[in-house]
Amino acid sequence: MTTAGRLEPVLSVRGAKKHYGEVRALDGVDLDIGEGEFLTLLGPSGSGKTTLLMAIAGFTSLDAGAFRLRGEDITDLPPDRRSFGMVFQGYALFPNMTVAGNISFPLKLRKWSKAEIDARVRECLELVQMESYADRMPNQLSGGQQQRVALARALSFKPSILLLDEPLSALDKKLRADLQWELKDLHRQLAVTFIYVTHDQDEALSMSDRIVILDHGQIQQIGLPDQLYNQPDTRFVADFLGKSNFLEAKVCERLGGALDCESGGERFNVTGESSSYNGADRVLLALRPERIRIGAQGTERFHGVVRQTSYLGERCHLILDHPGFGGVLVSAPTWRMTVRPEVGGEVSFGWDDDACVVLAEDQ
Ligand SMILES: Nc1ncnc2c1ncn2[C@@H]1O[C@H](COP(=O)(O)OP(=O)(O)O)[C@@H](O)[C@H]1O
Ligand SMILES: [Mg+2]
Repeated sequence: MTTAGRLEPVLSVRGAKKHYGEVRALDGVDLDIGEGEFLTLLGPSGSGKTTLLMAIAGFTSLDAGAFRLRGEDITDLPPDRRSFGMVFQGYALFPNMTVAGNISFPLKLRKWSKAEIDARVRECLELVQMESYADRMPNQLSGGQQQRVALARALSFKPSILLLDEPLSALDKKLRADLQWELKDLHRQLAVTFIYVTHDQDEALSMSDRIVILDHGQIQQIGLPDQLYNQPDTRFVADFLGKSNFLEAKVCERLGGALDCESGGERFNVTGESSSYNGADRVLLALRPERIRIGAQGTERFHGVVRQTSYLGERCHLILDHPGFGGVLVSAPTWRMTVRPEVGGEVSFGWDDDACVVLAEDQ
C-alpha cells in the first residue's frame, strides 16, 4: 500500500465477487482501507462502485469474498450491526420529519437518552453549519442544505466509517465545489474513514488521499492522486483520469534510464516514469496535453498545422495535425502563449524527455 503504509487497515476487502447474470459487477476486488483515510472509488458508470459500497454496507451480499473490520470477519453481519454511516446521491431525508428529527433518528434507534440526543443533534448541526435549521422540514431546504443534513444524520451516531455514494452529483457546479471543501474539512476535523464514490475525476483528484480506479468490476490501479495522474499504468487510467495523447513507439535503443524511441517518423528520448516498461521493442506512450509546448515555427522540434482551437479563458486547447502522430491535443496556458494559433496555420511543438509515460500492455 502507498499512503496507507503507515496506517493499519480498518477495512479489508478480499476476493469480492458479485455477478448479476452475465454482468460481473465485482470481479475479484482486493483492497485495504487505512484508518482515517479518505479513499475514493472512481470509475465510469457501471464499473461496480455502488455495488462495492453497498456490499461494504451489508445491503448487497457477495457471491464470494470477505470483509474484515479491524481484523474481525463481518462478511455475514447485517447492515445495522456494521454501523457505518451512509450518504447517497438523492436526498434521502425522511420527508415527514424535521431536520432535528432526521438527525436524531439513528440515535433513537440506538436508544440514546433524550439529553444525549439533544446535545448530539446540536453538535451535528454545528458541524454542517445548519444550527438555525433544526425545526425546518426537508422540503423547505435547498439541495445543498438537504445534503448537509443527510451528512449530519450519517455522522450522528459517530460511525467509524462513512460511506458516500456520489453525494454531490445532484448539485450544481458552484455548490458542488463549495461542498467539496466542506467535506474535506469535515474529514480532517473528525478523523473518520471516508469511502467516497464518484465518477467525477476532478472531484476524486481534489478530495482523496488515495484513489481506486475501477472498471468492469476490477481494480485498474490504486494510488495517490498525483501518482495516478503522472504515472498511469494503463491506457484506461491515462484516458479516464484527465486527457492523454497516445503514441505507439518503437524502442530503437535503451540508454541508461532513457528509451530512444521512434514514433510517427520522429525520434525522441523518453525518460518519464517507466516502471511499466518490460523491455519490449514496441511501447505505448501517454503524453499529457499540458506537457506539450507550442511556439512559432522553428522554435520547437516538431511541426504541425492547427486543425482546431478552443479558448477556455485560462487555457487554450488546440488540435494539431502532424503527418506521423496524427491529431495531437495540446492544452496551453493562455498567458504563456507566444503565438496566436490560427486554424490552418503552422506552429512548432515539442515536449521534455520526461513528459511521456510508458504504459503497460493491457490494451
Ligand atoms: N440489482 C442489480 N441487478 C442487476 N444488475 C445490476 C444490479 N446492480 C448493479 N447491476 C449491474 O452491475 C454493474 C455495476 O453496477 P454499479 O455498481 O451500480 O455501477 P456504478 O455504481 O459504478 O455505476 C452494472 O452493469 C449494473 O447494471
Ligand atoms: Mg453508482
